[in-house]
Amino acid sequence: MSPLTLAIPKGRVMKQLAGLFERAGVDASCLLADDRRLVRESADGSLRFLLLKPDDVPTYVEYGAADLGVSGRDVLAERRYDLYQPLDLGIGRCRMVVAAKKGASVPALPRVATKYAHIAAEHFAREGVQAEIIYVQGSVELAPLVGLAHLIVDLVETGTTLAENELEERELVAEVSSVVVANRAQFKLRRREIEPLLAALRGALG
Ligand code: PRP
Repeated sequence: MSPLTLAIPKGRVMKQLAGLFERAGVDASCLLADDRRLVRESADGSLRFLLLKPDDVPTYVEYGAADLGVSGRDVLAERRYDLYQPLDLGIGRCRMVVAAKKGASVPALPRVATKYAHIAAEHFAREGVQAEIIYVQGSVELAPLVGLAHLIVDLVETGTTLAENELEERELVAEVSSVVVANRAQFKLRRREIEPLLAALRGALG
């Protein structure tokens, strides 16, 4: 049978994920190899890992190029995917917040820079605030410093990036963590392989 295929986000979460797999007794040591291979397999050939940009994980799973994936709630909330979400892994924990320059006043119609245009638009709509959303791809914290925007909506993990750029948190938008996502059809077809894997991961959660 073909290996069960998992879409894995490259970057910060991948190391935490490798630790979680290890505690669960699942051989994913190939994730720790320091090379440029985008497809890796467990020693027994039962699992295959696709190393992707975090934003692309749900796409690969939704189209069935991967059976399962690990994705942040931020990515899942920003674009709508038709995916099953069987398990919250409790890793990759951070918060999505509204932030501004320390002490700065914010106009009634603020400009908001963010990579999360939909989440931000929904947040301000819920609050009845008319905001102009400006899409940026990264280094979002720069926007209020140079007058591009009054506010940002971005992820905060340790708070270091906000502090070092003299920004402060104003509101919490959402708590974020990494969850397992599954292709709906594959979840049914390969249930006998997927269920024990999820049970092992569940058992390894702190
Ligand atoms: C993320 C996020 C913040 C930072 C927060 O950016 O967008 O900028 O981490 O982390 P901290 O609270 O621990 O400082 P990332 O490093 O992923 O890069 P990006 O700017 O390209 O999104």
